[in-house]
Amino acid sequence: MSNISIEQSKVVVSGANRGIGKAIVEAFVKHGAAKVYAAVRRLESADALCEQFGEKVVAIKADLQEPESLVQLATEASDANIVINNAGILRCAKPLDKNALITLKEELDVNVYGLLRIAQAFAPVLKNNGGGAFVQLNSVASLKSFPDFSTYCASKAAAYSLTQALRTELLEQQTHVLSVHPGPIETDMGKEAGFEGHGEPPSVVAEGIVSSLKSGAFHLFPDSMAKEMGEAYESFANSVIEG
Ligand SMILES: NC(=O)c1ccc[n+]([C@@H]2O[C@H](COP(=O)([O-])OP(=O)(O)OC[C@H]3O[C@@H](n4cnc5c(N)ncnc54)[C@H](OP(=O)(O)O)[C@@H]3O)[C@@H](O)[C@H]2O)c1
Repeated sequence: MSNISIEQSKVVVSGANRGIGKAIVEAFVKHGAAKVYAAVRRLESADALCEQFGEKVVAIKADLQEPESLVQLATEASDANIVINNAGILRCAKPLDKNALITLKEELDVNVYGLLRIAQAFAPVLKNNGGGAFVQLNSVASLKSFPDFSTYCASKAAAYSLTQALRTELLEQQTHVLSVHPGPIETDMGKEAGFEGHGEPPSVVAEGIVSSLKSGAFHLFPDSMAKEMGEAYESFANSVIEG
């Protein structure tokens, strides 16, 4: 399959200002990317990254809930050959909580509609630039529901389903798709989900993405909890999902 080269790549990262997104920017610069477009909702939130990496990192304003901003992002980053849709939100709601319908709607808009919006904006860009790769941050919650944040899990299951369809559709234009399924990671979102002190650092996910793009895998289960789930899932994934 793909064997994407990271060196000299031009990479778009959504939600690049903190958490896993920031670690992805750092890892791609470290592994030789020519340019990283840090897609952020507030430009000033990427100031520290731009100061640290100089002209290698270019901040661009983009919001997954604002389709026009993603079209503009694709215009400004028209030389990108790797797109990493990392941005996402998690709200805590059990299925019978009063706020569950509202949280589901919000999470679907960012985590699922947002995925389709950015994929549709960038598919022609990736095609023009030789295929490249599209990376989607899914979760172990794409495969198993955790009742305390049930609506988030539903949104990540839907995003995983669309990622599988994108894999097939984008193959026609030689764009490789990678579906990333972290377990608990120490970020603001991890804190919100109650993982503080139990998660692994965001760099584990970022380095996993670099390695998986090089190997051409479709699934990545980066941290130890995710790896356990990935092992249990492997035979189904090989025979049914990727078969
Ligand atoms: N942390 C975990 O344990 C874990 C586990 C599995 C999967 N994941 C997934 O990994 C990804 C990154 O998670 P994280 O832990 O790094 O989260 P985080 O620390 O909460 O950071 C979320 C990022 O997404 C951005 N964002 C939120 N809504 C957005 C929107 N509408 N448009 C554009 N950007 C938006 C945020 O920007 P602002 O700063 O402007 O809010 C921020 O940069 C997410 O997709 C998440 O679901 C995380």
